[in-house]
Amino acid sequence: MTDIRQLTEFTKRIALEAGAIAMEGFRSRDLGIDLKADFHDMVTKYDRACEVHIRDAILAAYPDSTIIGEEDGASEGTGRLAWHIDPIDGTANFARGMALWAVSIGIAIDGEIAVGVVYDPANDHLFWADERGAFLGEEPLRSWGFAEPAQATVACNFPLPRDLVHFRDLALEQFADVTEQFAQVRALGSSCISLCWVAAGWIDATISFGANSWDVAASAFIVRQAGGTYVAYQSGAAQPQSRDYAHPHYLAAIPDAKFDVLHEIM
Ligand code: IPD
Ligand code: CA
Ligand code: CA
Repeated sequence: MTDIRQLTEFTKRIALEAGAIAMEGFRSRDLGIDLKADFHDMVTKYDRACEVHIRDAILAAYPDSTIIGEEDGASEGTGRLAWHIDPIDGTANFARGMALWAVSIGIAIDGEIAVGVVYDPANDHLFWADERGAFLGEEPLRSWGFAEPAQATVACNFPLPRDLVHFRDLALEQFADVTEQFAQVRALGSSCISLCWVAAGWIDATISFGANSWDVAASAFIVRQAGGTYVAYQSGAAQPQSRDYAHPHYLAAIPDAKFDVLHEIM
């Protein structure tokens, strides 16, 4: 039997530790910035250091774990736990000195997400969820929002990743659509923070293109445990209609190659 509450406490602890490592870099501004797939896709030495810290801590405590991390890829374990890790979600914000980025760790037990932790150290927001519900620190979260887009705020996460360029027209149409329909439109630059803000009821909806399991495993679970909705769309699928924007909501368009794995865990 996996003790879920113990797992939650452990995950909160390693997210706080990784957040502290990243905060040191954020304050020092000595970040070692590099590009990955293209000019939209950044990494710093702190993304790598945080992932190593999280990975080492997990393997010391739960050695048979499977780990899917953004920076170091996947390592297959024989046990029941699979950890989806984004060491810093919002790296572009982090690199520019904008205090909006977070450590995200989602854990699947036998293929289903059971624990999610998102730590935003600059704002000292520790979002988490397990079988008990969703919380910000000790406070229970209840996702709520305005039903009418005309009263609502939506956060859009652009740009499109390289493997979704065939999705360009749809993305632009959808962006035009929300700017016309919604009272307020934001681009926070962090998918997991956008989702946690939906869970907290601070925004009504968020839309993203090209989500990976490490981007959303923890925060989509937090939204669900807070009573909100997470919907994933495959890139070839029909365009989500405007009525789908009803709150509290997350729409993620997923590249075909990643769709199955994301659906297995969500
Ligand atoms: C990115 C952020 C961004 C989203 C991108 C993600 P990263 O993650 O969540 O908001 O639009 O699709 O890749 O690269 O900062 O971990
Ligand atoms: Ca990310
Ligand atoms: Ca990242």
